[in-house]
Amino acid sequence: MIETPGATRVPRGLAGVSVSDTRISKSSADGSLVYRGYPIAELAAKASFEETAYLVLYGELPTRGELDAFASGIWKRSTTDPRVFDIMRSLGGDAQPIDVIRTGVSALGSIDVERSIEDKETSIESKMSVLAANSLRVPRGEQPRLPGETGGFADRLLRMLTPREADDFERWVFERVLIFYMEHDMNASSFTVRVVASTLADPYAAASAGLASLKGPLHGGANEAAMEMLLRAKDPENAHEFVEATFKEGRKLMGFGHRIYKQFDPRAKLCKGYLGEMAKKRGDDRLYRLCDAIEMEMWERKKIPPNLDYYAAPIFYLLGIEVPLYTPIFAASRVFGWMAHYNEQVEENKLIRPDSTYVGPLGRNYVSIEKR
Ligand code: COA
Repeated sequence: MIETPGATRVPRGLAGVSVSDTRISKSSADGSLVYRGYPIAELAAKASFEETAYLVLYGELPTRGELDAFASGIWKRSTTDPRVFDIMRSLGGDAQPIDVIRTGVSALGSIDVERSIEDKETSIESKMSVLAANSLRVPRGEQPRLPGETGGFADRLLRMLTPREADDFERWVFERVLIFYMEHDMNASSFTVRVVASTLADPYAAASAGLASLKGPLHGGANEAAMEMLLRAKDPENAHEFVEATFKEGRKLMGFGHRIYKQFDPRAKLCKGYLGEMAKKRGDDRLYRLCDAIEMEMWERKKIPPNLDYYAAPIFYLLGIEVPLYTPIFAASRVFGWMAHYNEQVEENKLIRPDSTYVGPLGRNYVSIEKR
């Protein structure tokens, strides 16, 4: 074993280790979450997506003039070079949407004409939703769906994602879910973005790395995995057997558990309420009852609460969005948080380069290839 003298050993997965000061957001074990000091429930009740994104990026709620300029900047920069769609199309219909977006963002890094860091960031923030919404259809050979000229960020994204016409309440719910997905302190993808930013690589490189990290089922991929699980479970009456069988097979229940929240995830709680309302309005509460039944089983057995992905997934499902687009939606929103982290890292930069303890073999002698 070789340890650098004076190096500090930290728990696996950096659990419980604070790696940076941040002013952007904070989640706590008691189930609280604040963005720039504002409780998430208050933002969900009162703020628009654009207001929240401005707050997350710049630290203050915008004035009317600031909000209008910010929203129109996002809209103006959403026009995406057709060469990016060509590259996405060339990946073919079997490509995973999150890989398609990551390839698109990488391509943007070479194609985009933006010069300043701030313009590059706004370009990525606005184009990420266009890439996300088209990450399934364009590789399948369909024409890109572009953002319409009316409505806010959330409305435009929803209309690109599904031809189904949502009602006012559904649109409001979708915007809340995007607000919840926007930011979550030192989650795996934001940490990844900060590692890349700390090398002073550009925002395209950082956002591509963020997307790579988001893909996994332990992070952003969980909303798709949770929906696939709910579709397999099918019926509220099956909840007991389904959970039993999942544990017997040694598998995890997707959409449950969190590194920080041990009692409840405040975003999941709010989403559960919205899902219940949506179910009531439709006169069909089977999916809601299924979610609730599995949640109760899980709590009884393991005292592990559901996370945001568990309740965002059925909301997207009722909105008529195809399952492989769920993680892309997460990306379309989280990119605003990533850029806030990028800026915070660069402003007070110190290269992120940890140490490690060598536990491999020592004292070996090279043997020529003929003698091995
Ligand atoms: N289903 C079943 N058991 C779970 C579980 C789940 N979804 N999440 C955690 N557990 C159990 C673990 O098996 C472990 O049990 P053990 O101590 O008996 O081995 C214990 O709870 C601690 O879990 P661990 O995976 O070590 O916690 P973590 O903080 O490292 O991981 C997650 C957090 C999110 C990665 C983990 O809860 C998970 O894999 N959840 C499913 C994927 C998911 O929904 N991800 C989205 C996160 S927002």
